[in-house]
Amino acid sequence: MSAHLFEGKDHAAIYQKHRFPPPEELLNIIFSYLEEKKAKPYDLAVDVGCGSGQSTQVLLPHFARVLGTDISEAQIQQAKQTHSSSKVSYCVCPAEALPVEDGSVDLLTAFTAAHWFDIEPFLKELARVLKPRGCVSLSSYSPNMKIHYGHCSEALTEIFRETQAVLNKYANEKLHVLLSQYQEIFDLVPFPDKKRITFQGSEISFTVAGLMGFLQSFSMFQTFKSVQPEAAEALLNKTQARFLETMKVSSLETPLTISLEYICVLACKTEQVAP
Ligand SMILES: C[S@@+](CC[C@H](N)C(=O)[O-])C[C@H]1O[C@@H](n2cnc3c(N)ncnc32)[C@H](O)[C@@H]1O
Repeated sequence: MSAHLFEGKDHAAIYQKHRFPPPEELLNIIFSYLEEKKAKPYDLAVDVGCGSGQSTQVLLPHFARVLGTDISEAQIQQAKQTHSSSKVSYCVCPAEALPVEDGSVDLLTAFTAAHWFDIEPFLKELARVLKPRGCVSLSSYSPNMKIHYGHCSEALTEIFRETQAVLNKYANEKLHVLLSQYQEIFDLVPFPDKKRITFQGSEISFTVAGLMGFLQSFSMFQTFKSVQPEAAEALLNKTQARFLETMKVSSLETPLTISLEYICVLACKTEQVAP
C-alpha cells in the first residue's frame, strides 16, 4: 500500500518553503555514474515522488525533457506553480504506474521518496521504463542530522534528536526502509550492475526559523499535528525555545548549519529483465 502522507495543501506549502534541493555532491555522484554507464545525449529523465519540484529542477540542464511525478495532487500543484520551464512537465500518478513508454527513460530518480513506494511493483515499473543502459538513482538523507553553531553544536543536535524521539511514535512503518539505509531496496533492484553508497554531506545553511520549518515538513510531525494539534504546537515551541536559549540569541533569523548523511542506490539496466 502506498503511504499518502504528503497530501494536505498546507503540508505541500510547508514542504515547498522548507525543503532544499539535492546537494551538489549527490548530483555529481549520480551524473558521474550515468556518464560512466551511458553515452550522451540524454533525452528523458523522470523524477518520481518529486514533491514540490525542488529535486526535479536540478535535472533540467542535463536532459532534453524532464517529467516530475507524484501521488499527491497538492505537491504537484506546488511544483507547477514554483518551477516552470518548457523542458519540464508534471503529472499526478503513482510510482508504480508511470505514464511513459517502455524503454524510454535515460535516468529515473527518486530523492527522499523511494522508501514510500510499494517497492516491488515500483521496481517492475523501473525495469519497464528504462532504456537499455538507462540508470536509476534512489537516494535520501537519513534522520541522523548534525546541527552546527559555535560551541553548542552537540547540545543543539541532542535537542533535535530528543524532539525526533517524540515524533518517532508517529512515524509510518515504511520509514524502516530508510533506517536500514535502503538495504532492502538495494537487494531487490533487478539489475546485477548496482551499488549502494553512503556519505556525509557538507554543511547546509539554515536559520533557526528555517530549521523549525524543516521540522514541520516531516511527515511524522504532520501526523502528530493531525491527531494532537496543541501538543504538536507545544513541542515545536519548546524545541525553538531550547534552541534560542542554548545559542544565547533571541532572533529566529540567527544562522546555523546542518549536515546530513546520504544514502544512494545506483543501478544500470544492463540485462533484459522478465516482466
Ligand atoms: C519526502 S517527499 C520528497 C519530495 C522531493 N523528491 C524532494 O526531494 O524534496 C516524498 C514524496 O513522495 C511522494 N510519494 C509517496 N508515495 C508515493 C507513490 N507511491 N508514488 C508517487 N509518489 C509518492 C509523496 O507524495 C511526497 O511528495
